[in-house]
Amino acid sequence: MSAILERMKTLAPEYVQIRRTIHRHPETAFEEKETTALVASELAKYGIEVHPNGDDTGVVGVLRGAAPGKTIALRADMDALPVTEATGLPFASEIPGRCHACGHDIHTATLLAAARLLSEERAHLHGEVRFLFQPAEENQGGARSLIAHGFLDGVDAVFGAHTWPELPGGVIGFRRGAMMAGSDAFRITITAPGGHAAHPHKTPDPIAAAAYMITELQTIVSREVAPLDSAVVTVGKMTAGTAANIIPSEVVLEGSMRYLLPETREKIHESIRRIAEGTAMALRVGAKAEIRPGCGPVIGTDALVTMAETAAARLLGREHTAELPTASMGSEDFAFYLEKVPGAFFRLGTGTDDPASHLALHNGRLLFSEDAITAGAVTFCGIAFLATGSDLSALE
Ligand code: NI
Repeated sequence: MSAILERMKTLAPEYVQIRRTIHRHPETAFEEKETTALVASELAKYGIEVHPNGDDTGVVGVLRGAAPGKTIALRADMDALPVTEATGLPFASEIPGRCHACGHDIHTATLLAAARLLSEERAHLHGEVRFLFQPAEENQGGARSLIAHGFLDGVDAVFGAHTWPELPGGVIGFRRGAMMAGSDAFRITITAPGGHAAHPHKTPDPIAAAAYMITELQTIVSREVAPLDSAVVTVGKMTAGTAANIIPSEVVLEGSMRYLLPETREKIHESIRRIAEGTAMALRVGAKAEIRPGCGPVIGTDALVTMAETAAARLLGREHTAELPTASMGSEDFAFYLEKVPGAFFRLGTGTDDPASHLALHNGRLLFSEDAITAGAVTFCGIAFLATGSDLSALE
């Protein structure tokens, strides 16, 4: 067993407790005040420089090594979801309607443990490590807040991780190429004069037009995107009408689209507009399609993914690493960092023998293996050593 893994195993109960404390008090996007305070006080205990994220929640720790080297950033997100927890755990959320159903409490505890371990290894560390504890991953504003406050300036590479119910607890998953999808939101507003349900010949019907549009939108992925490429177009919300005997004057369709390639993104945008406008013309209604850009796909730099995998294999053992067979069509605001600097993203396996640990992320009954904290913290340490140009054998 590597020396750093052995050390982490002695510290693990402490970081499991920190995770459970955060888990009991979940805070949603840009409200992570208690979590920010807890992280800041832990970082200060380790002798790490603490920088608040301007007026926003979130905090960054800076650890300088004993010799010159590269500057790298390690990132954890801290926000919870507006979901009611139904796990029945003794440390379940104490706030109704909020819980850590995406495992960001695990991410925060994992990066704190890595900060502790790296602070203890400062004499062997080169360069600079920044610990980015960001707010608001779930509404995609958090990464941009840290970037706007300059915390990525001068960073040579950035690394992040996310829990993954499909891998066993303690296993770290890697993938070259696209890891997670890019995501944009769309909204189609269909308009007509409105009228009486008994006299359909006197007004175009926006509900009939919406029904055609929803059906035609399904042909974007099935008939326009190449079969071996991946994309999603989902209409998730439809707002229409007030009564059974009225033809309404407006229908609003809202949806989400996911893609892995930039050219697919452009194609889907064009297709949504064409289908909205073309169907509207055919059915004599008005239509306006608006697209709200989200974050791009998470695509790491192959050499840095390999570096991260090497760190995990050397410190945890090759049997604790796995190759992810496919990308996820979920999205991650880690993509905003990757637009600025090269980096890599990996998965923290959280599956156990309990079927509730294999539910989807964001499910209020989902359970997480806390072994992810140890495996993730050790992997982050190894990555920090390799990416700053330090000698990894100091941790072995
Ligand atoms: Ni998440």
